[in-house]
Parts: sequence; structure tokens; C-alpha cells
Amino acid sequence: MKLNFVGTGNLTRFFLECLRGKYEFGFILSRNFDRAKSLAERYEAIPSALDYGEELEGTVFVLVPDRYIGEVSKKLRVKPNTVLIHCSGFLPSTVFSREHRASLHPNFSFSNLEKALEARHEIIFGVEGDEEGVKVAVQIAKDISGRFFIVPTDRKVEYHLAAVMASNFPVALMYLAKKIYSQLGLQDPDYLIYTLLKGVLESAKEMGVERALTGPVKRGDWLVVEEEGRVFEKLFGERTVYDGVVTILKEVAEGERGKTEENER
Ligand SMILES: NC(=O)c1ccc[n+]([C@@H]2O[C@H](COP(=O)([O-])OP(=O)(O)OC[C@H]3O[C@@H](n4cnc5c(N)ncnc54)[C@H](OP(=O)(O)O)[C@@H]3O)[C@@H](O)[C@H]2O)c1
Repeated sequence: MKLNFVGTGNLTRFFLECLRGKYEFGFILSRNFDRAKSLAERYEAIPSALDYGEELEGTVFVLVPDRYIGEVSKKLRVKPNTVLIHCSGFLPSTVFSREHRASLHPNFSFSNLEKALEARHEIIFGVEGDEEGVKVAVQIAKDISGRFFIVPTDRKVEYHLAAVMASNFPVALMYLAKKIYSQLGLQDPDYLIYTLLKGVLESAKEMGVERALTGPVKRGDWLVVEEEGRVFEKLFGERTVYDGVVTILKEVAEGERGKTEENER
């Protein structure tokens, strides 16, 4: 099967590098012919500019920012049975308004291409699409890491929300913690936060997220929880976030206590 690529960003480079030797490459299309040319030379592909209107066949990866996927795909000239794939976590493949479509979302940040390539065997793909599209996308996921799961088309927003919560929300809390450490005069708060979180992540990986919880809520030290809530409010002007997080942590701790009691019975 021939693979074609629209866009010359890190996602295109990632797929080209991972899939070279496994697939034949067709066109690499860019808004700028020279950018397509320099990439195509490295991967034995054919360079073209988006507005040249080449007829594409096989599979076409549309690897452009989410807000342009629909618009760019409408401009493409494709042979019947060509499969269109994008990599958005949020948008479903229906953005292509045609059959033979898929979304293949790598759960990874591609800001550093080298790191993404190093981690390629660990990357888990969320795959969504129609029958023909899913078949192709799954094969590509298998060729890169073998790790993927199917996401129903009408649940892509939930799927993306989970990714945002897992990878972006912790940054908000780290940011607040960093403010406190900085006010205390710590020179390198980022490193301290990294060492704390690394332990939590390792526990989550080995024992599951719920068992990674430690600290006052887990121990039931309610005087500490209350006092720290008051200090949080003093420092940040309100305590909605603190109370919300504590409520969730209580649910986690109670769930874990329930499991321990069941095991002891
Ligand atoms: N970056 C990540 O970490 C990441 C992770 C998972 C999924 N994704 C998904 O991967 C897809 C690509 O994301 P990205 O971060 O690689 O995007 P990007 O780097 O901002 O753009 C990718 C390429 O799209 C082309 N492009 C930009 N604007 C365009 C426009 N107006 N019309 C046509 N082409 C345009 C450019 O190539 P030319 O200049 O050669 O035309 C650019 O190099 C998105 O669907 C995104 O959601 C990204």
C-alpha cells in the first residue's frame, strides 16, 4: 500500500521514519514545494505542492493543524477507495465527509521528534473510523508499536478529554505548587516537582493509579487536610480547586480501603 503525506511537520516526519522500508511512499505535499522536496529526497517520495492537484492513491495522511484538516482534505484529488487518515485526538474521521476514513491519534507529544522516535514502541494509538479506514489505521499502529485501541466515532470528545485531563491538568497543579516553592526561596522547584511526580508515575504504572495515592487524605489526617485548605485559600484567594481535588482523593482513598477490607475478609 502506498502512503502519501500532506504537511511536513513532526507528525509526518515521525510516520516517515517509523514506516520507511515497510511501505512504499507516494507523494509528500506541502504548501511550499521546497519543503516537500527536502523531505521527499530523504524518504524516496515524490514532492509536490498542495495546489498542484496531483491525483493520490492508497492512503493519505492529512497531518495539518486540526482547524485545517477539513478544508485541506476537500482540496485533495484522490482516486476511489483511497483511505484518508488524520491524527487529531479531538476530531472524528467524519471531518473528511467521505467513506474510507480514519483517525489515528498517537498519545504522545511530538514537540521533540527525537524523543517521539525513541518512545515509538510505547506509543498507544486511539483509532477511529469506518471499516476500511480502521483496517488501514490498525495495521499502521501495529507496524509502529502494536499498541492501539478503538474509539467509537461519537465518543472522540470523551476520549480527548481523558488525554487532556491526564496530560494537561497536572500542569495546573504543578504550577501552583511551584509558586509556593518559589515563594519559599527554593532555587530549582521544577526539579523537586519532577522527583515527586516521577515516584507517583512509577507507582501508577506498576500498581495502578489508585494505589499511587499517598499523603494526608490517604492517611485520613483530617486536621492536616483542613489546615492546608485554609493556607491554600490564603495563598490563592479561593479554595474551590483544593476542595474539589480533596473530594476526588477521598473517593480514591475510600475505594482502596474498601478493597483492602474485602481482601482481609
Ligand atoms: N504535535 C503533537 O504533539 C500532536 C500529538 C498528537 C496528535 N497531533 C495531531 O497531528 C496533526 C498535526 O499536528 P502538528 O502539531 O504536527 O501540526 P503543525 O506542526 O502545526 O503543522 C503540521 C504541518 O501542517 C502544514 N500546515 C500548517 N498550516 C497549514 C494550513 N493552513 N494549510 C495547510 N497545511 C498547513 C505545515 O506543513 P507545510 O508547511 O509543509 O504545508 C505544517 O508543517 C494535528 O491533527 C494534531 O492534532 C499532534
